[in-house]
Amino acid sequence: MIPVTKPFLPPKAEYDAYLHGIWERNWLTNNGPLVNELELKLKENLGIDQMLYVGNGTIALQIAIKALGLKGEIITTPFSYVATTSSIVWEGCTPVFVDILPDRLTIDPAMIEAAINPKTTAILATHIYGIPCEVARIQEIADKYGLKVIYDGAHAFGVKVNGKSIFEYGDISTCSFHATKLFHTIEGGAVFTKDPELLKRMSYLRNFGHDGPEKFNGVGVNGKNSEFHAAMGLSILPEMEEIKKKRKDQFQHYKKLLGGLKITYPETSNIENYNYSYFPILFSSEDQLLKSIKILQENGIGSRRYFYPGLNLLDYTSGCCPVSDDTSSRVLCLPIYHTLSKEEQIMIARLLLRVQNNPNL
Ligand SMILES: Cc1ncc(COP(=O)(O)O)c(C=O)c1O
Repeated sequence: MIPVTKPFLPPKAEYDAYLHGIWERNWLTNNGPLVNELELKLKENLGIDQMLYVGNGTIALQIAIKALGLKGEIITTPFSYVATTSSIVWEGCTPVFVDILPDRLTIDPAMIEAAINPKTTAILATHIYGIPCEVARIQEIADKYGLKVIYDGAHAFGVKVNGKSIFEYGDISTCSFHATKLFHTIEGGAVFTKDPELLKRMSYLRNFGHDGPEKFNGVGVNGKNSEFHAAMGLSILPEMEEIKKKRKDQFQHYKKLLGGLKITYPETSNIENYNYSYFPILFSSEDQLLKSIKILQENGIGSRRYFYPGLNLLDYTSGCCPVSDDTSSRVLCLPIYHTLSKEEQIMIARLLLRVQNNPNL
């Protein structure tokens, strides 16, 4: 079986060494030394000043929305994972969907202004597959209308824009460190902001509002993460360059192998430190996509319709986004992970070509 993704596991001895320390200290959670060490090392690795490690990428989004005190309508992308939208609704706000750019698949800045009304308080956009949103144009619009900006950077670990970490953009950026992500801590996530006040507010929100053992600063939640999760991150972080290199090779190898296939790709050229976190392809039709999924499945190969259905089409949302609807009906992510072999990639490519060359399949 070839899965669509496989979590990276570090050399076991590395993790064991961290476990040894946990047993010695008997400190398992509540902002322990490994959580602090992970935050420090991530800041160093990403070249950023401020971040908080949290329980997952979804609670990161919810904390971001809460910290900014957002109410009313939030302009967002229909082409993302459901957590982008569900977090907005969970926090009592209304998602207003703006269509995506057909090449980069990120929110279309030219369409944002038309969606702004007196109830709009923010823009929440996703750097989908690690492809940066048009951050300068989005900030211009936000400044013009006094809106806050949150970026869902769940896929964007390590990516840069204009020489800076992508997580430096917007009022708050978030990331997911879920096991399926490029860098992971089994479950985990982060919030990033350059504003020290916002950081402080988010640190209260992450820990039930605690401001000392008997004092509370507002309503909080349990957004913390454990020493065991931090240990996994600390064991994986030194491997990141090797992981990215492998994925880049696989990405390029796929592109060569799939040269004869009538597909297109999201635009990923000119991205600084692009991270190759996914390998999405766009078929010419949904019919081709469904036939391809079937043949892959019959041969024990996983693939995922990341991201389908469009988030404007959920039973608790609405919105007209033809570019996103069309994209999500035709997009498929192929397997990409550190141990995927060249032979396995060849097999996947052959199967996809077989579908194209046999209209009767
Ligand atoms: C774009 C996007 N946002 C948010 C999330 C939620 O992250 P988590 O699974 O860590 O809660 C995910 C992934 O799962 C995602 O792909």
